[in-house]
Amino acid sequence: MNASSLLTPHSSPEIPVIAIDGPSASGKGTVAALVAKELGFHYLDSGAIYRVTALAALRAGIALDDEAALARLAGHLDVRFDNGEIWLGGEKAGEDVRSEASGNAASRIASLPSLRQALLEFQRSFRTAPGLVADGRDMGSVVFPDATLKIFLTASAGIRAERRYKQLMEKGMHANLSQILQDIQQRDARDSARSVAPLQKFADAHLLDTSTLNIAEAVNEVLAHYRDSVRQAS
Ligand code: DC
Repeated sequence: MNASSLLTPHSSPEIPVIAIDGPSASGKGTVAALVAKELGFHYLDSGAIYRVTALAALRAGIALDDEAALARLAGHLDVRFDNGEIWLGGEKAGEDVRSEASGNAASRIASLPSLRQALLEFQRSFRTAPGLVADGRDMGSVVFPDATLKIFLTASAGIRAERRYKQLMEKGMHANLSQILQDIQQRDARDSARSVAPLQKFADAHLLDTSTLNIAEAVNEVLAHYRDSVRQAS
């Protein structure tokens, strides 16, 4: 799908959305994907959209603080999600999207208001029947403020660094635990301090701290909250 072709709003209030926001490496992506699978819903990894935009900017040699050029790029991004694969300009983006370099670049460009605006309708276009589970930083606050359920999923920075370290090692990628912890802390600070759509837990979101939970337990908590929300709404 081409972000520039999405000229009409795609907000469909009748289609349920579960918004799962939280910091880097909190496990929200894994939990969100499993919740989506369990419910037969679509899944939106909004961080991947920021990462792939950052990757496209790095490849095109666009400076990460050139807001106008980055917003233009985001508005014409040729990105497609297919069965867990991300395609950028007709080519598989591959593991580059998951690298720490893309994550850090994504966090930098994510602080630019016009870039965020350029990606808004594209993200909303993922809200299709029978429902959507979306993870990111501002899914419940900006992109889907009318979400059926909002979760703020987090874990301590130390635990998140260990999880990310294990993930990278399992993929055979180079990893350094203290560097990862430092990057996570820096990214948390940047994502929380930015003036536009900062990472924060809003009053209408349920806090889910996964420091002492395994993945299955976290998934079950989200599903239980969702069933409660549906029951209360009916
Ligand atoms: O979830 P992630 O680590 O893949 O996200 C990469 C970066 O993108 C993150 O540092 C902040 C940014 N991001 C954002 O600002 N808003 C979102 N909804 C998702 C990600």
